[in-house]
Amino acid sequence: KIINVILSGGVGSRLWPLSRKSKPKQYLPLFDGKSLFELAVERNMSVCDKICVVGGIDNYLLSRNILKKLKVKPYSEIVEACPRNTAAAIAFAALEANPEDILLVTPSDHLIKNDKRYYKSLESAIDLANQDHIVTFGFKPMSAETGFGYIEYLDNDVISFREKPTQELAESFLESGNFLWNSGCFCFKAGVYLDELKKNEPEVYTSSKRAFFKSNGIFLNEILSMEIPSISVDYAVMEKTERIKVVPSFFEWSDMGSFLAIYDFIPSTDARKSSTNLSLNTDKLVEFVGVENLILVETKDAILVLNKNNAQDVKKVYERLEIEN
Ligand code: GDD
Ligand code: MG
Repeated sequence: KIINVILSGGVGSRLWPLSRKSKPKQYLPLFDGKSLFELAVERNMSVCDKICVVGGIDNYLLSRNILKKLKVKPYSEIVEACPRNTAAAIAFAALEANPEDILLVTPSDHLIKNDKRYYKSLESAIDLANQDHIVTFGFKPMSAETGFGYIEYLDNDVISFREKPTQELAESFLESGNFLWNSGCFCFKAGVYLDELKKNEPEVYTSSKRAFFKSNGIFLNEILSMEIPSISVDYAVMEKTERIKVVPSFFEWSDMGSFLAIYDFIPSTDARKSSTNLSLNTDKLVEFVGVENLILVETKDAILVLNKNNAQDVKKVYERLEIEN
């Protein structure tokens, strides 16, 4: 069986005020009335036998509503009491599956064009996963972005996996030409993942298992969950495992992390764009005069005016507000 594991844990703080704790970015209907979560489910429904959503207590009902709307069957839900990062989130899904099931792990907050190239990459990945490999999807890097993982590769072989390098290293990776960006999607057998987690991060493995088997239905045990070390799958498994492979991929992919990514995604013919400015989520007439690179976002209770070159800094506003409230 092939199971699509959808990770839906993040808040998307860089998309404040659109993205809120009660409605994280992957549920915002920003794309022709559809959300990134909905697009992710639609994209994978056709190739997978089952969907498993791993997400937080704050948003599992949002996920469930979309699964019901799309009439997805069968699906399962795992509700985390507190976020313990992706190594554990994937472990829960793997523990629920049979060891021989293939897991296709996908974030819920990326924009991917589901054309032939996407399904071709999936086919190669499933093939490698069937041979007991841990499979990543790699993209030609476009800039020395430090928020990504980098994969040093030769065809399907991975020479090294480097999560979130320094600026200097990222630049050297780009220059060398032997590196790909890690997409954040993965494919492997459930049992193979658990073996590799056990081998490389035994504490994460043991504590995740304990929290999972003491769960109350779909809800994980809170006290036991807090004991799980918070580490991402990239550091916990990808940097260490010898079973890693990569599928160099060519489908259109964007990590919709910030307003800059949304700006880049919206075509210049869209009425919300004028010159280098963009307005979002407002029903008012917006005119930009004598300003460049501005993004204006309106919600019921907040307005954001952002220089799009500072798109990463919105996170700081979110964090400040969270402390103040
Ligand atoms: N259920 C659950 N629980 N999901 C989580 C948790 C958690 O505790 N933490 C993160 N997630 C989800 C996020 O919602 C997102 O969909 C996905 O897991 C990846 O987490 P991010 O926090 O967005 O990771 P990242 O962007 O810093 O880095 C990853 O993605 C990059 C590509 O966008 C890494 O895999 C990088 O190597 C990769 O380049
Ligand atoms: Mg991300």
